[in-house]
Amino acid sequence: MVHIWPIGGGKGGSGKTFLTSALARLLAESGKRTLLVDLDLGAANLHTLVDVPYPTKSLSDFIRRKTPFLQDTVLQTPTPNLFLISGAHDSMDIANLPYEQKIKIVKAISKLEYDWILLDLGAGTSFNTLDFFLISQNGIFITTPEPTSIENAYRLVRAIYFRHIRHCFDAFYFKELEKEVVRQFGDDAINKPHCMMQVVQRLHPEIYVQLDNTVNSFKFRLILNQLRKQDNVAIGSQICQIIEKHLGLHIEFAGNVSYDDHIHDAICQRVSFLERYPHTRAATDLRELSKQMVNSVGSQLLMRYS
Ligand SMILES: Nc1ncnc2c1ncn2[C@@H]1O[C@H](COP(=O)(O)OP(=O)(O)OP(=O)(O)O)[C@@H](O)[C@H]1O
Ligand SMILES: [Mg+2]
Repeated sequence: MVHIWPIGGGKGGSGKTFLTSALARLLAESGKRTLLVDLDLGAANLHTLVDVPYPTKSLSDFIRRKTPFLQDTVLQTPTPNLFLISGAHDSMDIANLPYEQKIKIVKAISKLEYDWILLDLGAGTSFNTLDFFLISQNGIFITTPEPTSIENAYRLVRAIYFRHIRHCFDAFYFKELEKEVVRQFGDDAINKPHCMMQVVQRLHPEIYVQLDNTVNSFKFRLILNQLRKQDNVAIGSQICQIIEKHLGLHIEFAGNVSYDDHIHDAICQRVSFLERYPHTRAATDLRELSKQMVNSVGSQLLMRYS
């Protein structure tokens, strides 16, 4: 069974691309055929971190119908078992994909035959990011301990939850539901997905049951990256508690990755951080996280795309 892991985080520079590439290297090393897909359309740079400086093909070959098969855009990286679909040739117009194109990509990704597929997503809460995150139930959020990064991660979680509800209704009717939320719970409730869920439960009980089942099947996780010595080690689990309290969504805290200047050095030298600095705290943290991913059971595509 294919395991798909979308990796996102609200803020640019929080370490999504670095962590995605490092975790993928570790999964590939464990003998699993692992595919990286660069879905940070318009700002793709994953290829640089897996030592494919000049990708000869990319996702845009599939989007622009140069090839009918997504598999044809896959590149071999120098690491055994590690493959890449680069986003490197995608220009800004591809960053604004029409919905149908996006669904085509999502369906094609879910049919690829690899043991593990990791998706590197862009920062922010664009519809592309939200829809790619919702490909599978195994999404990972990355944040740093900085309040700005935490705030953006919180916004991303909320936007994903709303997007998931929104997919069940047309845009016009969803606006009507929003008005109903405000009527029932007041102006502040417009940002609270669980208030929207209560309105859906009252007006559309069947859709509510379906939505509630999927939300309960989410196995979203949070990784706290760039933890420095002086930072509070419990901050990651505290963020998860706050999300559960205010958004009603359970997110598991997966672990911390320590801040390490060697990461910058390794990226600048274009070498694998894990190979060059295997005995650092950050490398140990990454190995721990990849073990957790391997041990976590089951992975399903969300029903909408299956
Ligand atoms: N644990 C860490 N310790 C020290 N530096 C780190 C760590 N993780 C990432 N970095 C640094 O942060 C930089 C930004 O990381 P990265 O490009 O992965 O962020 P990103 O979230 O993908 O950003 P964007 O949203 O712009 O794509 C890296 O180049 C690296 O130097
Ligand atoms: Mg990135």
